[in-house]
Amino acid sequence: AETTEHSHARAEFVVVANRLPVDLERSADGTQRWTQSPGGLVSALEPFLRSRKGAWVGWPGVPDVDVDEFTDEGLVLHPVSLSSAEVRDYYEGFSNATLWPLYHDVVARPIFDRSWWESYVRVNRRFAEAAAAVAGERATVWVQDYQLQLVPTMLRELRPDLRIGFFLHIPFPPVELFMQLPWRAEIVRGLIGADLVGFHRPGGAQNFLWLARQLIGLEPSRGAVGVRSRPGMVQVGDRTVRVGAFPISIDAAGLDSLSRTKAVGERAAQIRADLGDPKKVLLGVDRLDYTKGIDLRLQAMHELLQEGRIKPDEVTFVQLATPSRERVEHYQRMRGEIEQMVGRINGEFARVGHPVVHYLHQSVNRTELAAFFSAADVMVVTPLRDGMNLVCKEYVACRHDLGGSLVLSEFAGAAAELSSAFLVNPHDLDGVKNALEAAITLDPAEGRRRMRALRRQVLTHDVDRWARSFLEALGSEPAA
Ligand code: ADP
Ligand code: F6P
Repeated sequence: AETTEHSHARAEFVVVANRLPVDLERSADGTQRWTQSPGGLVSALEPFLRSRKGAWVGWPGVPDVDVDEFTDEGLVLHPVSLSSAEVRDYYEGFSNATLWPLYHDVVARPIFDRSWWESYVRVNRRFAEAAAAVAGERATVWVQDYQLQLVPTMLRELRPDLRIGFFLHIPFPPVELFMQLPWRAEIVRGLIGADLVGFHRPGGAQNFLWLARQLIGLEPSRGAVGVRSRPGMVQVGDRTVRVGAFPISIDAAGLDSLSRTKAVGERAAQIRADLGDPKKVLLGVDRLDYTKGIDLRLQAMHELLQEGRIKPDEVTFVQLATPSRERVEHYQRMRGEIEQMVGRINGEFARVGHPVVHYLHQSVNRTELAAFFSAADVMVVTPLRDGMNLVCKEYVACRHDLGGSLVLSEFAGAAAELSSAFLVNPHDLDGVKNALEAAITLDPAEGRRRMRALRRQVLTHDVDRWARSFLEALGSEPAA
């Protein structure tokens, strides 16, 4: 009865994510407008889903609003509302002060709070109910990320006819760390309701398989999981659940063509001129998050300046930092530290009209971002831990001129694919400094060789390939 009731003209393909691809912005004067939501998940999935004309279930980004379902260029957007208390407990609390630090190697201390967990369960149920109402008979529902790990099993109970995939966009932690979670078995049980559970790296899949055995007594396959191949298998009653690795990527061709436009070229030249035409421009682009290592790269810069290894009138560092999760304490503290370091470096090394570090706590549009990438000689990506990191791939996609070099943390998922970058251990400050210096003084021919290799990887492994390989493994897409 459940399925018949929902089968009238509902979507055949549904994405369920914490956020809609657009955020509702309300200004003080009462006007409202939709803007693109922050983060890598939306950057990656939006172009793909628009081409499919499916439905997207998610939160509109502000508390206490009820928005009706609407269609945006063929994409059905189905808002799920959250109260202020739920934003505090489910989103800022359990998602971003418990799971986020726990899954990112405990680089900050996770907080375990029982009322946050209760809110997480309640909100996950609401998303499952919304997905059940939107999905047509035997539709494919693709559940995204750490905020919604209970949805697969909840949705399967409501709609056993659906094909359900789950993808985790952040790292899945080492088992010793996951075992700290008081609700560890519930999370594994929540995920196992999917037909396919996907991670960026084989290590994450392997960790999950181990936990399925230890925590809920299942008997997973034992072979090594490959990249886009050889998924692990777990029998759950009469269902076979697959567990695999699918490294996410970007709309590489789209960015490549954007970066070749006259508008981007002119804007890039303007940016360099506005910076005072320094010999070398270094760039960081991140959500302002304590996992991203923004503080580390500033510290490395500071020491290089103090040691005279880089000259303040030759090198300029630009940091674009999107505001993120601003009411969570760890984020407030990190912002304070970063802003203090920017002030200190400029205090010691700037001249009037010539700061050494340009810091923008702002989000910029795609064209502007492509111009910054095109203008930067060295892209600095130094997370302590990152599921994938799309920024480094975006930089590479924008460098059709084969210019620029990339300094990349080994602890970003992308490092496994981008081996021609200057790979650094972000905990090793001397190593980071050496890599920055090497990238700044790089011989242009060697730089082109590296960039060519990076581009070969990024342009052939784009987001479309990621989505197709996941959906093929889920069985909802014919094999290529
Ligand atoms: P995360 O998902 O943790 O935010 P990713 O690197 O995977 O990290 O994705 C971040 C996305 O947000 C990228 O598409 C990047 O271009 C975009 N982004 C980050 N900072 C900014 C900024 N200041 N302005 C505009 N876009 C940004
Ligand atoms: O995968 C990274 C991610 O956390 C997404 O889930 C999220 O949408 C994005 O970064 C931005 O974070 P937030 O939605 O908390 O602003």
